[in-house]
Amino acid sequence: MELKPADVLISHEQIAERIKEIAQEISYKYAGQDLMMIGILRGAVIFMSDLARAIDPSVGLTMEFMKASSYGASTQSSGKVAITQQPTMEIKDRQIIIVEDIVDTGLTLKRLREYFAAHGAKSVEVCVLLDKKDRRVVDVPVEYTGFVIPDEFVVGYGMDFDEKMRNLPSIHKVCQVSEE
Ligand code: IMP
Repeated sequence: MELKPADVLISHEQIAERIKEIAQEISYKYAGQDLMMIGILRGAVIFMSDLARAIDPSVGLTMEFMKASSYGASTQSSGKVAITQQPTMEIKDRQIIIVEDIVDTGLTLKRLREYFAAHGAKSVEVCVLLDKKDRRVVDVPVEYTGFVIPDEFVVGYGMDFDEKMRNLPSIHKVCQVSEE
């Protein structure tokens, strides 16, 4: 199956506005404290780099990345979540915000929350850009949400189909490329 970007679902201007609001909330809560943002590769890289730059300098921010299994070339989740790249910074006693592109079934974030609890984090919160609420299979707390979206596959602003289209500045729906 070959897909291409279709209509814009959320424009880069809307994303920038919402990121400012979320960053304000996080900056207020963590003012004068240390905070480690952990971005989930690869989808959250663009979101996290914009979010981190909008955080007030009074927050002692560190940035870490890790990797959990993703969709690959399919638009259906496998239901299994493997942590394929662990963080290298010390997690014990740290205040952490997991930064993720999308919460869909919730399985990835549930696994990640368990991982940080098991590694002795002082606190764990979750910040997602997009929430596909209708698709949730497991209950998982999400403290900061950019946008709730319908059950549709999206690409752009870090999100891919088969590793492509991450570079689009806005978030798009997709449509199938017709065969001539
Ligand atoms: P969950 O474990 O089902 O919540 O899946 C979350 C992960 O699925 C996200 O981090 C994305 O990598 C991927 N994902 C879910 N929906 C989409 C989508 O519409 N486009 C691209 N990736 C998606």
